[in-house]
Amino acid sequence: MTGGAGPGPEIVLVRGDITEQSVDAVVNAANSSLLGGGGVDGAIHRRGGPEILADCRRLRASHYGKGLPTGQAVATTAGRLPARWVIHTVGPVWQRDEDRSALLASCYRESLRVAGELGARTVAFPAISTGIYGWPLDDGARIAVRTVREAAPAAGSVEEVRFVLFDETAYRAFEEAV
Ligand code: AR6
Repeated sequence: MTGGAGPGPEIVLVRGDITEQSVDAVVNAANSSLLGGGGVDGAIHRRGGPEILADCRRLRASHYGKGLPTGQAVATTAGRLPARWVIHTVGPVWQRDEDRSALLASCYRESLRVAGELGARTVAFPAISTGIYGWPLDDGARIAVRTVREAAPAAGSVEEVRFVLFDETAYRAFEEAV
């Protein structure tokens, strides 16, 4: 499904696995350590191989001694993935974080900003925070779509934002939000 008649990039919804997407940049729903985990994060490191983790370790040593703060985003190589870059962002935990909606919006906005800096034309997002971090899908989808619509026109090079939804429920939630 595609949507986005207005200005800015096209929003595309697909059902599938984010590690298989042929896009310039894939966004990872990471954690502050940047050293891997389950869900999307585990899949990206598994399929992308050790180069991604090596880059993450370098970033920890050079810029993020205490970890990447929630709501921020940073890029590494994509290793063996079809993409050129992985943009790691840390979503808020539904049950834990104050100001959580602003932080979730920040993940999408900051990831798009980084994508624009890299010159990426196509960017794939998972439904950040809606897995292990426990965010209700409908609300997570609304924040994702609204933030991308608002922020993407400023992310210069980006022509397509692809939401990659793992299952039918997630796909429906995004369809509704679009
Ligand atoms: N492709 C697309 N979507 C996926 C994939 C995949 N391969 N795998 C899962 N999803 P999650 P979070 C969906 O848990 O909630 C990790 O341990 C999934 O169904 O990956 O932000 C990190 O290291 C859900 O809808 O991310 C953190 O510690 C969505 O992607 C923590 O999990 C996000 O689920 C982050 O939790």
